[in-house]
Amino acid sequence: MAIKNICCIGAGYVGGPTMAVIAQKCPDINITVVDINEARIIAWNDDDLTKLPVFEPGLDSIVRETRGKNLFFSTDVDAAIDRAEMIFISVNTPTKTYGKGKGMAADLKYIELCARQIAKISKNDKIVVEKSTLPVRTASTIKSILDNTGNNVKYQILSNPEFLAEGTAVEDLLQPDRVLIGGDTTIEGERAVAELVDIYSNWVPKEKILTTNVWSSELSKLTANAFLAQRVSSINAMSVICERTGADVYEVAKAIGMDSRIGSKFLKPSVGFGGSCFQKDILNLVYIAKSYGLDEVANYWEGVVEMNNYQKNRFSDKIITTMYNTVSGKKITFFGWAFKKDTNDTRESPAIQVADNLLNEQAQISVFDPKVDQDQVYKDLNLLNTRDPETNLKLVKVLESPYEAIIGSHAVAILTEWEEFRHYDWNKIYESMLKPAFVFDGRGIVDVNNLKSIGFSVYKIGAGN
Ligand code: NAD
Ligand code: UGA
Repeated sequence: MAIKNICCIGAGYVGGPTMAVIAQKCPDINITVVDINEARIIAWNDDDLTKLPVFEPGLDSIVRETRGKNLFFSTDVDAAIDRAEMIFISVNTPTKTYGKGKGMAADLKYIELCARQIAKISKNDKIVVEKSTLPVRTASTIKSILDNTGNNVKYQILSNPEFLAEGTAVEDLLQPDRVLIGGDTTIEGERAVAELVDIYSNWVPKEKILTTNVWSSELSKLTANAFLAQRVSSINAMSVICERTGADVYEVAKAIGMDSRIGSKFLKPSVGFGGSCFQKDILNLVYIAKSYGLDEVANYWEGVVEMNNYQKNRFSDKIITTMYNTVSGKKITFFGWAFKKDTNDTRESPAIQVADNLLNEQAQISVFDPKVDQDQVYKDLNLLNTRDPETNLKLVKVLESPYEAIIGSHAVAILTEWEEFRHYDWNKIYESMLKPAFVFDGRGIVDVNNLKSIGFSVYKIGAGN
């Protein structure tokens, strides 16, 4: 059976771009991406491609090419499930905020809802693909729900975790380091794996398509994110030692990265990692380890998250102590709110925690981010529940130009590594600020000597300041 119709449940940062690329590379397959969030679906269908709900370089042109031909966005979940031979589950799997495992375990309620809906609607055999990041052994939960509905439909569950990074999603999808597919080792399982391998083979070289058992695939995804985040926490741990000793973390990163066993990627010091996944996936891993009684393993990985929290708080502390131990009533301009450059995503962005800490000290904050609008900034702050929304509204302003944002500021804090920040007219910025004018670079992107020659007092994370 060659797959002719795919349904993807979840039109988010993974579902949207992933299906757009599959649609482009497999013109004979009809793909419907469905979501219960109507506003999101309307945005995916907007004629104005700048309004797509996900900003990713290169995504607009792929959507323009495929949408309405073999790529569709819809809220009619049932119809899409009914039509499809293969269903990707790409819904969110956030950290639980209630009950057992609160603050640590993955909340699988959206996954379970999908499984129940598939079970309810399906009349013919389906291959169900876990695209969301899931705790190891989730496939058995999905299988148990699907197999116990008594409608005689046969299901195969595959694990096909996604490794794209935001900001480079299209590139990562077009040229992945590998595609991982886990399936049952039965004949039916192998057949289902082969169907998915065939789809990716349209553009991914065969040797990059790795097949494993389901549990290895599920666990590899959590492991990959844990290893990546651990590298960031490791270099950030060194950044503070560098600041105390006069070593320069950028030189240290280069020196260790040239060791081919270590490698040079993912060693950029920062104000901390953000994004919707690193923290949640590590906490999920910690929870799994704890549930097997593996406390040493759990503590080891939990340290990565603790280090990250330390790094975020250390940055706001540095701002406060440098500005004579008080930021009360002082205006601090944030360049960047997204959790990394080239995305409009702000989930778990370090900017949020840093802002919250400074607001607790009664600072006034003005924010400029090239892709994040003011509603999102207030939403992120209000979600913390640290103070009432009116106070956030009063203390925080979001502006559409960096030069407007900066007027009358005591300090600039760089929270995201947007390329354009490097090329701003820093002389002009200096002129419109109060003196002494401070720059706190949480991303290591500014030319310290140049800024100092203009007159700024500069702190760059990890560099012997
Ligand atoms: P997201 O929040 O952007 O999108 C998920 C979407 O699923 C939402 O629009 C939501 O409305 C929808 N949804 C939830 N329940 C639904 C239901 N029952 N029926 C229909 N739609 C439903 O999330 P995301 O960033 O795309 O992440 C999805 C999964 O992929 C997560 O498990 C995440 O860990 C994983 N992942 C994310 C990334 C990333 O870069 N964001 C990368 C790799 C893996
Ligand atoms: C990460 C992984 O890189 C993807 O492989 C994975 O699919 C995804 O999580 C996921 O599962 O969601 P993403 O979070 O989109 O992707 O972006 P990254 O490039 O990994 O950056 C994460 C955070 O770490 C950002 O805040 C970034 O600024 C920070 N970072 C990254 C550093 O501080 N230093 C680095 O050297 C690299």
